[in-house]
Amino acid sequence: MKQHFDVIIIGAGAAGLHCAWQAAARGLKVVVLDHAKQAGKKILISGGGRCNFTNMYASPENYLSQNPHFCKSALSRYTQWDFIALVEKHGIAYHEKTLGQLFCDDSAKAIVRMLLDECDQHGAKVQLRTDIEQVSWQDERYQCVTSQGVFQAPQLVVACGGLSMPKLGATPFGYQLAEQFGHRILPVRAGLVPFTLHDAEKQAYSELSGLALDVTASTDATSFKEAMLFTHRGLSGPAILQISSYWQPGETVQIDLLPGHDAHTELQQLKQSRPKLGLRSVLQQWFPKRFALTFAEQQQWPDKNLADCSNALLTQVADTLHAWPVKPNGTEGYRTAEVTLGGVDTDQLSSKTMASKHQPGLYFIGEVVDVTGWLGGYNFQWAWASAHACASSL
Ligand code: FDA
Repeated sequence: MKQHFDVIIIGAGAAGLHCAWQAAARGLKVVVLDHAKQAGKKILISGGGRCNFTNMYASPENYLSQNPHFCKSALSRYTQWDFIALVEKHGIAYHEKTLGQLFCDDSAKAIVRMLLDECDQHGAKVQLRTDIEQVSWQDERYQCVTSQGVFQAPQLVVACGGLSMPKLGATPFGYQLAEQFGHRILPVRAGLVPFTLHDAEKQAYSELSGLALDVTASTDATSFKEAMLFTHRGLSGPAILQISSYWQPGETVQIDLLPGHDAHTELQQLKQSRPKLGLRSVLQQWFPKRFALTFAEQQQWPDKNLADCSNALLTQVADTLHAWPVKPNGTEGYRTAEVTLGGVDTDQLSSKTMASKHQPGLYFIGEVVDVTGWLGGYNFQWAWASAHACASSL
């Protein structure tokens, strides 16, 4: 039996659910199809279970895309304040954690509940546990042959997300559909992801696992001043996740381990004022002891008093502390990445509506599109904004 709708949305994640209720609110008959058992799985685990659902400072500069202008229209027509108003309408308590990042006070479940309640209220149907076997375009209609029957509609919204965290149901289906309908896919790679280190460095620093430092991590493109965390495999923490999205394999990342200090001047001043102070003691004033000793050992800095350290050595120490060069072996990949960079090329989409420029009634929203946000609520804001742009034009 065929079921007829005005709109079929594939993917009951952040973008798909937000699009569904808004389209239904405009009087359209909407169905959301998803192979998962549960809607909004990524929302549920996001932000450590509290969902960093938006960022007070979200703006187009916080996004990576081959076309950095593409996200502007959608972001300006559905802002963080619009989503905050929805959260407040549903009585969900929230707080700012840091840097404008807004989290639920209690649980991310409240955000999924809110989206499903809106879908219920406006009559959008959410059909889970539905494997999509085939999608075709015939007689001006999309036909989805699924494990739960055949669904037809003149409009199809692809909201299948990216490749990160296959355990949560991520698949390349969105990209495959895009290609099926003649869309270009820009190369995809894991973003917001921890770095792995080469064996020697991994061994040297793995004993620091769990230790965090405030740093500035930089590539030629940009830099982020946030925390860095040592792990058993390499480096993580917000500063590393952020810079990973800008990092290309083979590139070296510079890490300023002492942002806000001037190690050159401070070491010279200490050499004059406290010549008997040991170099390693100075490092212990700046860093946790465990890090100071391991790092000095790895850099082969001598255990000498400052008076006995040549100016060349102190310059080398200061240079290294302000620009520790790290050449990652790679990243932890999609297994732990928060997002997928690249995806459906925005050149073939309308930035106002997210519609395909050449295939009638076809739309792409959320992470499947080549728009990727920074860490801190920006990716959900893109999901909400692109969903709104699409729903307003269906
Ligand atoms: P999303 O991935 O949410 O949804 C896609 C849906 O499509 C899923 O329900 C999936 O089951 C379905 N699907 C896929 N293939 C299918 C197929 N073949 N057939 C049927 N259905 C299919 N962002 C942020 O702003 N703040 C945060 O706190 C976090 N935290 C965070 C933590 C972790 C661990 C991860 C992995 C990611 C985040 N993110 C985040 C990123 C954020 O979760 C992500 O950008 C959005 O969920 C993207 O929304 P979409 O709706 O595009 O995809």
